[in-house]
Amino acid sequence: MTTIFDGDRRHFLTLAGATAAAGFIPTRFAIAGNAPVKIGILLPYSGTYAMLGESITNAFKMRIDEAGGKLGGRSVEYVAIDSEMSVPKAGQNVNKLISKQKADFILGPVHSGIAAVMAKIIGKKGSPIMIDPNAGSNAVTGALCAPNIFRTSFSNWQTAVMAGPAMYDAGHRTIITISWKYGAGIQMMQAGRESFEKAGGKSVKDILNPFPSVEFQAHLSTIADMKPDAVFAFFSGGGAIKFLKDYEAAGLKAKIPLYGTGFLTEGVEKPAGSAAEGVQTTLHYVRDLPNETNKRFIANYEKQFGAGKSNVFAVQGYDAASLLLQGMAAVDGDVGAQGKIISAMGSAVIDSPRGKFTFSKSHNPVQNIYLREVRNGKQVTLKTLAKGLEDPAVGCKA
Ligand code: PHB
Repeated sequence: MTTIFDGDRRHFLTLAGATAAAGFIPTRFAIAGNAPVKIGILLPYSGTYAMLGESITNAFKMRIDEAGGKLGGRSVEYVAIDSEMSVPKAGQNVNKLISKQKADFILGPVHSGIAAVMAKIIGKKGSPIMIDPNAGSNAVTGALCAPNIFRTSFSNWQTAVMAGPAMYDAGHRTIITISWKYGAGIQMMQAGRESFEKAGGKSVKDILNPFPSVEFQAHLSTIADMKPDAVFAFFSGGGAIKFLKDYEAAGLKAKIPLYGTGFLTEGVEKPAGSAAEGVQTTLHYVRDLPNETNKRFIANYEKQFGAGKSNVFAVQGYDAASLLLQGMAAVDGDVGAQGKIISAMGSAVIDSPRGKFTFSKSHNPVQNIYLREVRNGKQVTLKTLAKGLEDPAVGCKA
């Protein structure tokens, strides 16, 4: 059963299956017995990141279904809240999942600002276990790290730090960086800029656009006037499509090569069309990676959700479920044995479509970073830029 809980209107919308029996209050005994394991989900299902939230949710459930629909021998129930990408509502939303819904595990979010709010609350409480299937906030596995917080995606630093040398090696000596003005954009911009300058280049301007605004015209004029050798961008989802199209329409694409973290072109290849062609990005996943798990994942996902629909966000959701499966198998479904679940998860090897990976001490993936390019509407690997890259986990003391 999946229930979508609308945070605003304070009621539940049942998506599929039967609603919970009226008046049923799960007791500790019921939870520890044969009652389903409850996964509380806080992801975006509306707005510029809707595609990301849907991809993560689809792939998470697909992975559980592949494992027979059970976690540690128990059936699974999902309760999802649309985060609406709202940082002010994040605290209230996560508290609803924990206190009202009594979720055994929390899956989310996509947005770095929401991730910081969630990590503060959940880390301080010490339970339940949170799995972040996208948001890259460096702090989540840095200053806000905690034993009960895991991430199956990336840190913002990881996705951008190899872009500097890649742009420099391509012959560029000056760049402008552009992104949305919030945690993810700021941290990716910083890692891209610093690594470019360390390689010997110069970053001549940082442009920040309010999130999630897609008003880019004034910024495109600035880029046209300043004529850097290249542009380094972070946008994602609906906003990425608009930025790519505006960049091409402004006549900049042919003149000033566009780079970015992989989100700029991920999952938007079709709608962006010619505007995404030839755009090079850095990321921890490429659709053409030749391992068997990737081939099987893409085939299963696209059979269920449509040709060309798999993407890195789905991979991260799939891996979040693989991680939880391992944790719950270690305790035969006893969610009360949190310490044992955490140690099984911390030492897990995830057989991911991105290739096998493990977790750092701060529970962030240790993973490869690739240089990719969109060719004929598909992501193609150009080069492995880093093998087993580990986030420095600045400020993590747990
Ligand atoms: C984030 O806010 O951390 C974030 C959002 C979308 C992405 C990547 C990172 O594609």
